[in-house]
Amino acid sequence: MPDRYAVFGNPISHSKSPLIHAAFARQTGADLQYEALLAPLDGFAAAVDAFRASGGRGANVTVPFKLEAFRYANDLTERAQRAQAVNTLKFDGARVLGDNTDGVGLVRDITQNFGFAIAGKDVLLMGAGGAARGVLLPLLACQPASLTIANRTPQKAIDLAQHFAAVGAVRASDYAGLAGDRYDLIINATSSSLNDALPPLPPRLFVPGALAYDMMYGKGLTPFLAFAEANHAQTLADGLGMLVEQAAEAFYEWRGVRPETRPVIEMLRKS
Ligand code: ATR
Repeated sequence: MPDRYAVFGNPISHSKSPLIHAAFARQTGADLQYEALLAPLDGFAAAVDAFRASGGRGANVTVPFKLEAFRYANDLTERAQRAQAVNTLKFDGARVLGDNTDGVGLVRDITQNFGFAIAGKDVLLMGAGGAARGVLLPLLACQPASLTIANRTPQKAIDLAQHFAAVGAVRASDYAGLAGDRYDLIINATSSSLNDALPPLPPRLFVPGALAYDMMYGKGLTPFLAFAEANHAQTLADGLGMLVEQAAEAFYEWRGVRPETRPVIEMLRKS
């Protein structure tokens, strides 16, 4: 019997995770089965219970269940605690370890795949929802010169900055307050690209050599990336690399083996 893993979400049919983990398994010679499972909106815990009872060893969790997965876990990594959200569960008897690999996935994609050092840079993170919260600890661990959170509802950015104040220097702003600022790295962690919308960014935010990163993937040139291109960002990135990197970190958590991500990112870009 191969070891069983799954990703839980609703909807889930679009998920690329089974493809990614099948590629990791082939690459590392792991005998495992990884499937996409639709959990009812009011039945996440029951679905995971059933999966564990049938021998499931671990799971990824996606929209809209990351907060429920955080509550489901009975042991948490520090980055999951800070994020208050869980995207990776590891089952070991009665112990359920909850982790959040999204932030480290983002940081690895930026630093390793794009070769962009975050240390000493001025970073702008757009958004103050779950996606932004999930990446703040690993971003701050890179020791940027500054980290600014901008959000349409400013109070949410202020609350999030306060939540991470003990970890590193974070300041909050609304979009109008960014006028005159310059950033080396701007990350879109809002859900605006889903609706083909653009947060109201002032012009001239990018320094020469800047990287614009949209955590969304599969949308082509999003309004944010088009804005970045028009405003002379040097490099444009979508979230496909982050998707593969967060999966690789989960795979490592479960199997103790770190898969190669580059060939998998290339495979997904082609398909
Ligand atoms: P997620 O888990 O994807 O972060 P969320 O918690 O609902 O989802 O948060 C969505 C984020 O995108 C919020 O920061 C939201 O801003 P508000 O807090 O002001 O609602 C932001 N967002 C969504 N659409 C946006 C838009 N068109 N312009 C600017 N920000 C937007």
